[in-house]
Formats: sequence, structure tokens, C-alpha cells
Amino acid sequence: MVGQKVKEFFQIEYPILQAGFSGIDAKSVLPVCEEGGLGVLGVGLKSPEWLRGQLEEIQKNTQKPFGVEIFVHHPKIGEIFKVLLEKRVKFVFTDGGNPLPLFPYFESANIEVIPVVPTIRLAKKMEENGAKIVVLKGRESGAFTGIFPVFPMISLAKKILKIPLIVRGGIYDKMTAKVAFLLGADGIQIGTRLITTFESSFPQAYKQKIISAQSDDVKIILDFTNYPLSVIKNEFSERMEKLKEKNAFPEEVNFEKIFGEINLENVEEIPVFGGISAIAINELKSTKEIFKEIFEEATKDLEK
Ligand SMILES: Cc1cc2nc3c(=O)[nH]c(=O)nc-3n(C[C@H](O)[C@H](O)[C@H](O)COP(=O)(O)O)c2cc1C
Repeated sequence: MVGQKVKEFFQIEYPILQAGFSGIDAKSVLPVCEEGGLGVLGVGLKSPEWLRGQLEEIQKNTQKPFGVEIFVHHPKIGEIFKVLLEKRVKFVFTDGGNPLPLFPYFESANIEVIPVVPTIRLAKKMEENGAKIVVLKGRESGAFTGIFPVFPMISLAKKILKIPLIVRGGIYDKMTAKVAFLLGADGIQIGTRLITTFESSFPQAYKQKIISAQSDDVKIILDFTNYPLSVIKNEFSERMEKLKEKNAFPEEVNFEKIFGEINLENVEEIPVFGGISAIAINELKSTKEIFKEIFEEATKDLEK
């Protein structure tokens, strides 16, 4: 059965997970949980107090499983961990660096840690260090990109790994989902498409930027830092391009201004995260419709 291991691991109806670790608040998580996927709250550089409030809202409004994605270099990672413990979060995704030093803490707290990594070699390393499931991230991803395109990595990763494999980057419709499952993925994680839903809490202007993006409007900016970002072209992205032309040092980029408490309404002043799928997504849909299309239709032929 397609996606069975992922469905069992997270106790969800569809092997579809939400991606993104900044801007994804409780209001965007809840519809994904309610429709049978795994909603994933994104902490980015937000404060521990923010995290506590969002978790309370999720737990008040759903009994369904959900996860939290954290940035391993969060300056208050210790306090973030305490909130995860206090609120008895079951699933934590890690991104943005090496999660191995955190593994013992998660293990002792009985929290399942799901590392997000950009290469097969790192995925194997996570398995060897006790991860029970792993996410491989492709270059197609919105916001922090991976290194390589995701599809060519899947079948090799499946040969090398024993643990279930979730993939993310550029998956947004039934064909891309079908290819991921056909190549052997056990689950898929979706960012850009799950922002452009009627229910997601992103401002209308943000969603509009994504659905109106044309083929040249997805830009990779900050590739002179360790954190290249896939965004929709706007005044902010143009400013970052100019910074690069001036041979800026990575330290000249204020990441707090990008991932901290930013106003998502200011769609020209902030990075509007979106992967390459933004050029193909041209209308808002309901979460229900997306899940039905992606999973039921994509897997119809695969299960024959
Ligand atoms: C709105 C949004 C915010 C995101 N925030 C982050 C982030 O802060 N850090 C990060 O590494 N990835 C971030 N991502 C990337 C996702 O975690 C994920 O890798 C990506 O969305 C998957 O590719 P897709 O957008 O093509 O589905 C974000 C993505 C979106 C769409």
C-alpha cells in the first residue's frame, strides 16, 4: 500500500505532511490535520513564548497528530526544547544544520525526531544514528533549497536506506506526487502548494504573489551565504541581488529580519517563500481538494 509506513508512523490518513518552518502558524496547521495529513508548525526564529501559544491553539482545536519543525541553530534552542517537552509534542522535524547533538535529548524525552537533510549520505548517517524516518529535501524547495533535484535521488536513497523515506521539494499535484511514490517515496512533504489554499493563514497578498508567479519569477537569492533561499521575485529579492553584486559578506544579511517576527502582509519588503512549483500553481484550492487530487488520484494506478 502506497505510503503505509508513513501513515502508520504518524497515525494519519494520507502520507502527506506539511512543510515550511517559518510563517506556518497554528491556523495553517489545523486544516492539514483535520483533512488527514500531518500539519507541521514552523518555528523558524520565533520565540519560545510564540511556540507555546501556537501549540496551545493547536491542542485546543484538534485531537489529530501534528508535528513541529525547528531550526537547529535557533539561539534559544534550549528553551524551545523545554516548550516541546512541556506541551508533549510527539514529532519534531529538524532543519538548517546538524541535528545529531540533539538526538539524545529527544530520545530521553520520548519525542520522535525526523531530520530533514539534503543528501542521501546524510540521510544514511541519520539512520545509522538512530533516526526512524528521514526527510530528503530537493533543490526545488521553497525557502531554504536543497542541493540536488529531489526525483533523481529517490530510487537510490530507497536502495541505501532501511528506514522510511519522505521527500520534499517541487511536489504539488497528482503527477509530481505520483512520480515520487512510483520512485519509492514512502511519504511526501509539501510547502508551497499548502500555502496557496483557501484555509492557510498566509495573507491574501502573499498567496497572490505565489499564484501569479510566472516562469522567471522564482529566484534563488542569498546563494553567497550558507542559506540560499527560493523566493518569488519582489523588491526584497531585487535588493538581495544588488547586495550580491556588491560582493557582500554573508554576515551582512540580517536573518532575524527574514525569519523573525516579520509582517507577512508586507509582500514587497520580505522574502516571499516559494519553490519552483509556484510557476505552475495558478489558483487557490481547498486542502481537501489538494489531498484528494494528490493522494487518491495519484495512487489509483499505483495500487492496481
Ligand atoms: C512559506 C514557507 C516557509 C518556509 N520556511 C522555511 C524555513 O524557514 N526554513 C527552511 O529551511 N525551509 C523553509 N521552507 C521550505 C520547506 O520547509 C520545504 O523544504 C519546501 O517548502 C518544500 O518544497 P515545496 O515548497 O516545493 O513544496 C519554507 C517553505 C515555505 C513555502
